Amino acid sequence: MPQWLVIFMLLSGTLVGLKVAYALCTSLALPATRGALYVSTPRSRISEILEAVPMQEGQILVDLGCGDGRVLRMASRLYRIRGVGYELNLLAYIKAKLQCLGCHRIKVKWQNFWQADLSTADVVFCYLFPDVMKDMSVKLQKELKNGATVISCNFPIPDLELQSVLRPSGSLINDPVYIYTIAKSDEILKSLFIPQRTQSAQSKNLLFQSVTSVHSVSSVVNL
Ligand SMILES: C[S@@+](CC[C@H](N)C(=O)[O-])C[C@H]1O[C@@H](n2cnc3c(N)ncnc32)[C@H](O)[C@@H]1O
Repeated sequence: MPQWLVIFMLLSGTLVGLKVAYALCTSLALPATRGALYVSTPRSRISEILEAVPMQEGQILVDLGCGDGRVLRMASRLYRIRGVGYELNLLAYIKAKLQCLGCHRIKVKWQNFWQADLSTADVVFCYLFPDVMKDMSVKLQKELKNGATVISCNFPIPDLELQSVLRPSGSLINDPVYIYTIAKSDEILKSLFIPQRTQSAQSKNLLFQSVTSVHSVSSVVNL
């Protein structure tokens, strides 16, 4: 058999094998990912997003459904952040693990992110299916700390405080990227007021003034 035919068969076999692996891993993960497929964000888009969301060295960036982990690697190189990625698609997970070998600031877990605790995250990145956004909003508001940033590619997350909408290039119609800040001052206000029944009207008023001024300052900063 001629050498070129052997090479051609090896290459096309590998390609077909990869396609079959993709289809298999995707269909196995699909019930848990609730529709989200393993589709990577183009590097040029990630680059523009990271430029718009500066991070501090040592901060924790979590990618919910990290694919091959490219967002974590690029952010880690740019800002020296620590990255945590959750991924259920086996093919994507193996790719991420291999490509993150030697990146000691990045952890990739083969785990359902709905079971992850997000309380230590400073920034959360996700590129998911619109059907999960309502539940995602509840999880993020419950678990993230005040001031944490949420980046959502292509689809908005309801009920979060929108900081800006980017239109990075690199997709067909420059799909939007939504940036949110977790603002928990209203919750603090509520929880502070429940046990305050015994306090005098004057101290309640002072408390109200101080908390609302914190809220308005944070709104101004976020805008
Ligand atoms: C559109 S891809 C985005 C990949 C990567 N974040 C990027 O931007 O390049 C979404 C990924 O989320 C993963 N995913 C969806 N639901 C998940 C879940 N509940 N737990 C872990 N991974 C999940 C999917 O397997 C898929 O690889």
